[in-house]
Amino acid sequence: MSVSVGIDRIGFYTPGLYLDMAELATARGEDPNKYLIGIGQSQQAVIPPTQDVVTMAANAASQILTAETKQEVAMVLFGTESGIDNSKATAVYLAHLLDLPSNTRAIELKQACYGATAGLQLAADYVRVHPTAKVLVIGADVARYGLRTPGEVTQGGGAVAMLVTADPQILALAPTSSYHTEDVMDFWRPTYRTEALVDGKYSTNVYLDFFKTVWADYQQQTQQTIADFDAFVFHLPFTKMGRKGLRQILPEARPEQQVTLKAAFEASQEDNRHVGNLYTGSLYLSFLSLLRHGQMNAGQRIGFFSYGSGAEGEFFSGILQNDFQKGFDETALSTLLANRRRVTVSEYEAIYRAQLSNDARDVQLAVGEESARYYLAGRQNQQRQYRIK
Ligand code: CAA
Repeated sequence: MSVSVGIDRIGFYTPGLYLDMAELATARGEDPNKYLIGIGQSQQAVIPPTQDVVTMAANAASQILTAETKQEVAMVLFGTESGIDNSKATAVYLAHLLDLPSNTRAIELKQACYGATAGLQLAADYVRVHPTAKVLVIGADVARYGLRTPGEVTQGGGAVAMLVTADPQILALAPTSSYHTEDVMDFWRPTYRTEALVDGKYSTNVYLDFFKTVWADYQQQTQQTIADFDAFVFHLPFTKMGRKGLRQILPEARPEQQVTLKAAFEASQEDNRHVGNLYTGSLYLSFLSLLRHGQMNAGQRIGFFSYGSGAEGEFFSGILQNDFQKGFDETALSTLLANRRRVTVSEYEAIYRAQLSNDARDVQLAVGEESARYYLAGRQNQQRQYRIK
């Protein structure tokens, strides 16, 4: 008998500061509608030096773990492309901060924005073989391009944490998925750089080409068509990107289904529009946004398009489960987003420059405004100093 496996719980964290995109547009001499409509972003998370991918992941994961479920976490798969060490895995720091049992495997996965999807699929395969195990999958990143670059409007950051189990509350993953890898230089970050290098226009074309390829392959493998889907969620580096993805396949749907799919897309882009790019976490924030803002029902099929520059694309699907609304903490999420403080463009630029320096000096960070449970206090003897409130 095959076991139903998938996402049992989802948590999300983004820091308590944001930048208004109309204000950024004005400061950069652009028409605000270019950012608000052309790119499709209204706000962008601003990441203070006291948060990194480890602390953001801990703040997201602590929402979905109880003392009891922590004991059952067999593995932590941490997808990130903005890791803090070239050797030691962020997952090991995270397992320690969360006080997970020491008989847990803890590994970091990297393939640009695709890392969390790799984690999700590997976790699902693991649970299919070990149905009593739970796997913690993380997508956490700081999307950082550089002040006054075309990518600046597509920055952001945060973490999504998912618990992958048998008999999941939220989404049962279908076993078939379609994936595609090609060596492409559309976006990359050499080890000597803190900001990504990107061939922006080219990257958007590669994204759309990869979606075309994996969607066609998925349909061929499963004999499903667009009529079998109730919603599609996309990796959203900026919300217009997913809108373009959906437009590519919408003509395959009947007119009344087009209306439903468009409404689902609007719901799925709502939170991303206010947080910006999360790289590895973006697809899963979009899924969470769909669950929070959409009119979804148990039994419906959702298609997922994951894209990681460089490049890897994957299309897979899952069926919403009866208790999907119990799998995330709506009050915590709406409070988190509602309580953020708006920063001015000059404050944002100062925070951008105040990140932990890329050298060996001891640093003590000002933690005055930091309200998160897990935060970074500085660096001592070349070791990051993590703290728990
Ligand atoms: N009102 C309304 N719309 C306007 C406008 C106005 N006043 N002015 C311009 N626009 C529209 C343009 O028509 C354009 O729309 P279309 O794409 O539909 O044609 C849109 O605004 C953007 O305008 P430009 O193409 O001129 O923008 P740009 O050259 O400044 O750069 C970008 C846009 C290439 C996306 C850039 O922000 C970038 O490089 N971003 C980072 C790379 C990225 O996110 N790539 C995505 C695919 S790769 C990936 O997905 C992995 C990842 O996470 C990085």
